[in-house]
Amino acid sequence: MAIFFTTPLVYDLIILCFSTSVVLLSASPTLVLNLVHSNQMHSSQEPPYVSRSEKASIARLEYSKAKATGDIIAHLSPNVPIIPQAFLVNISIGSPPVTQLLHMDTGSDLLWLQCQPCINCYDQSLPIFDPSRSYTHRNQSCITSEYSMPSLRFNSKSRSCEYSMRYMDDTGSKGILAKDTLVFNTIYDESSSASLPNVVFGCGHDNYGDPLVGTGILGLGYGEYSLVHRFGTKFSYCFGSLDDPSYPHNVLVLGDDGANILGDTTPLEIENGFYYVTVEAISMDGTMLPINPGVFQRNYQTGFGGTIIDTGNSLTSLVKEAYEPLKNKIEEVFDGRFTTADVNQEGMFKVECYNGDYERDLVESGFPTVTFHLSDGAELSLDVKSVFMKVAPNLFCLAVTPSIGNMNSIGATAQQNYNIGYDLEAKKISFERIDCGVLFDY
Ligand SMILES: *[C@@H]1O[C@H](CO)[C@@H](O)[C@H](O)[C@H]1NC(C)=O
Ligand SMILES: *[C@@H]1O[C@H](CO)[C@@H](O)[C@H](O)[C@H]1NC(C)=O
Repeated sequence: MAIFFTTPLVYDLIILCFSTSVVLLSASPTLVLNLVHSNQMHSSQEPPYVSRSEKASIARLEYSKAKATGDIIAHLSPNVPIIPQAFLVNISIGSPPVTQLLHMDTGSDLLWLQCQPCINCYDQSLPIFDPSRSYTHRNQSCITSEYSMPSLRFNSKSRSCEYSMRYMDDTGSKGILAKDTLVFNTIYDESSSASLPNVVFGCGHDNYGDPLVGTGILGLGYGEYSLVHRFGTKFSYCFGSLDDPSYPHNVLVLGDDGANILGDTTPLEIENGFYYVTVEAISMDGTMLPINPGVFQRNYQTGFGGTIIDTGNSLTSLVKEAYEPLKNKIEEVFDGRFTTADVNQEGMFKVECYNGDYERDLVESGFPTVTFHLSDGAELSLDVKSVFMKVAPNLFCLAVTPSIGNMNSIGATAQQNYNIGYDLEAKKISFERIDCGVLFDY
């Protein structure tokens, strides 16, 4: 008899102790998910919105700065990825499941989406999730850690845990921390799906400011509520050109068995939920740019500086001391062929734009590769499409901007055509330039 009484108890304890890695379907789950290009969600071509994407980048860096110093006053803006676009994960939430499209974001932790009842919701093409119709929906208790993202507040009246994310550009999401079942469509078998119970997420009832293309954010950062912890210690993603919405091989892999850890590795530092790598130098066409490597270093006392990897941000941002030499070298190659364009921008700093034909003048005539040299010999090579973005028929801009803080950030544009593998246990990140299609047999 004793066995019958103790077994369930032991079982409960195991679930409790390993609650971050317990899953429904198997002991070590792996999910291979298709990434949806956000342009697939647009029926018509958007006009240029440099200022919006730029604003979002500023907001993120401001937030990163605040967070790196432990001073959480505002949350990062989920990038409004107008130019270039970003990637969405198609998931369903609740029981019965409701489809949602969430931005993949390595720069934040929490999964959040718009929820009914809406005090404020921006327009979305999919039905807004109504938690009252999901029988697996539960409120999540408020357990805050020092750097939990976002900051949480227990409301004793409604007995719920409220999250609030306010962005620098007056965008934000407020709601209740909840948990529910997530259902994923795996890439191999469209008729099968994998479900994961009790996923903590933010049910956003009050969402304001610039709308997203998707219906929320899927945070892959390291914070305690991040989905990555439900799949072990490894994940990887690979996406092709941001300007090719029809490319079918964009993929996110969660889980130790399936994550593609390929190519050169560089040490990964995890701090305050962010993924930091160490940039040692930047070269162009094989020539090292005159940049003091110290400008890439993180100050361990203040938390300032360093370089994060951020898929939620389209643009790459560099501190002035690194940005200026790069821009100067680029303009040296231009050799006066393009005049700088005065694009209507309302942000704090300027995205550098030029009058020229992106396809004819850059892609077809070629441009030298810009390489980020990371510690331990890993390299991230940016071809012409990773350095520039087309904004209008006769206008292109740098996809690299000066950061306003002192943090550097490697954005989605710079990560095109790479498989990027994260090994959170070995603290390594791997980069392999690849056609994502070779990773899988379809
Ligand atoms: C998302 O997945 C659902 C099936 O769960 C499918 O019907 C829908 O077309 C998918 N949406 C996109 C944009 O891929
Ligand atoms: C969950 O939170 C909502 C919103 O505050 C509240 O109305 C509801 O009573 C809570 N449910 C439970 C089971 O505590």
